[in-house]
Amino acid sequence: MGNSGIMRTKRVETVLEQDEGEGEKLNKRLKARDLIGFGVGIVIGTGIFTLTGIQAKKNAGPGIVISFLIAGIVALLAALCYAELAAAVPTAGSSYTYAYTTIGEVFAWIIAWDLVLEFALGAAVVSRGWSGYLQELLGLPETFFGENSVVNLGAVGIVVVLAVVAALGIRESKWLTNLLVIVKVSICIFVVVAGLFFVKMANLTPFFPPSTPKEGGDTWHEQPLWQALSGIQPAAYGVGGLLVAAAVVFFAYSGFEAVANLGEESENPGRDMPRGLIGTLVACGILYMAVAFVLTGMIKYTDISEGAPISDAFKQVGLGWAAILVGVSAIAGLSSVILVEIVALGRIGYALSRDGLLPASLGKLNERYKTPVRMTILIALLVSALAAFIPLKALSEMVSIGTLFAFLVVSIAVVVLRRTRPDMERPFRTPLVPVVPTLSAVTCLALMVSLELGTWLRFLVWLVIGMIIYFAYGRRHARLQQHPEEIQG
Ligand code: ALA
Repeated sequence: MGNSGIMRTKRVETVLEQDEGEGEKLNKRLKARDLIGFGVGIVIGTGIFTLTGIQAKKNAGPGIVISFLIAGIVALLAALCYAELAAAVPTAGSSYTYAYTTIGEVFAWIIAWDLVLEFALGAAVVSRGWSGYLQELLGLPETFFGENSVVNLGAVGIVVVLAVVAALGIRESKWLTNLLVIVKVSICIFVVVAGLFFVKMANLTPFFPPSTPKEGGDTWHEQPLWQALSGIQPAAYGVGGLLVAAAVVFFAYSGFEAVANLGEESENPGRDMPRGLIGTLVACGILYMAVAFVLTGMIKYTDISEGAPISDAFKQVGLGWAAILVGVSAIAGLSSVILVEIVALGRIGYALSRDGLLPASLGKLNERYKTPVRMTILIALLVSALAAFIPLKALSEMVSIGTLFAFLVVSIAVVVLRRTRPDMERPFRTPLVPVVPTLSAVTCLALMVSLELGTWLRFLVWLVIGMIIYFAYGRRHARLQQHPEEIQG
């Protein structure tokens, strides 16, 4: 196989030359500030607005604050690895391109396919969450809106509208995203400040509810993988519950690495990429822990609503106007997540078709808007189909496992690239290599095994479908097949 088979790697220089090349180019005009705007836009979403409540109630109690801390530390370790590669290989494909220059084409494809999962399913989760908030606020028919719907037309509608905005170009997306990010951050701060007045120590005690056996247990595919393998009795709360909650709320951090997809469009990737990635994560982590603390302090974790936990908490303490304010802001804020995920998917698709792993005609940039319009239409169709029929819970756990898997590979790639390409210019260096990448890989794996067996099985099915596409199309049409000079010697 060697350098010409499925393990062939692309020269880093080729990637950088492609960016400089004549051909079609994305516009370069984003600064660190814009990157953090994009990052926060994609990161704060259904995770904090919906999953916090469910996980506090079912698995962690007020200890959900610590689950957010654990998930945040894992994400931060991964971000330190991402930052090195995002700055060194600033290109539209992010971890996909890194894998292509380090561990080989087939792994690069697996990563790309995994990123499609992360962003397409992520967008579907958030559009379903969006539809649920809208249903609750306006009392719309449950047949077409929210989690009880037969066909979730609310979710499909928002996906279509935002795909049009994305197709019109990054300038418009950026403008709208920045506005919605301000709304979203403001409402989180509002929740913390207003909610603090209602926090009671009694609600926060016990902070870590003791481990309790689950009534009736879980069905075989609903157990965390490590539990299924070890045969331990299923339990809620306790340390196990804290870890399960951390794995599930990891979803809340997913998407920050989309900042790395904008490498080709940033003014100075070496300086802006690490700032963009780490800044996004720290800002979100602080907000998450504060909101989770206030939520579990306002009402007893056993009384938290699973549909719209934060607005419902305000309702329960008698602040109806605040409940409406939170609902309206969540609807606006969640829109920005869907938009940025669609934009990120477009960038990944663009990189894949440029490399011949997907048909070139799909990734063609529209002359007028300079965006991959055809790819965006395809994405809108995929995300709408998922959002119309598949429940939020199944989709969100798939996103967690997909994201953690992508981070695992990126962490390994940092170490591999340091060995194989020691001379490559690295505007940002991951500290303490190989300690940090190893810790990142191990902690990602630890959270992955805390996810359900069923999620693992669905993830494997997704990967198998990806492999079929690669061997049936990508492998034979890859650009490296026609341009062997671009293969790393
Ligand atoms: N991290 C995003 C959210 O929480 C996907 O909705």
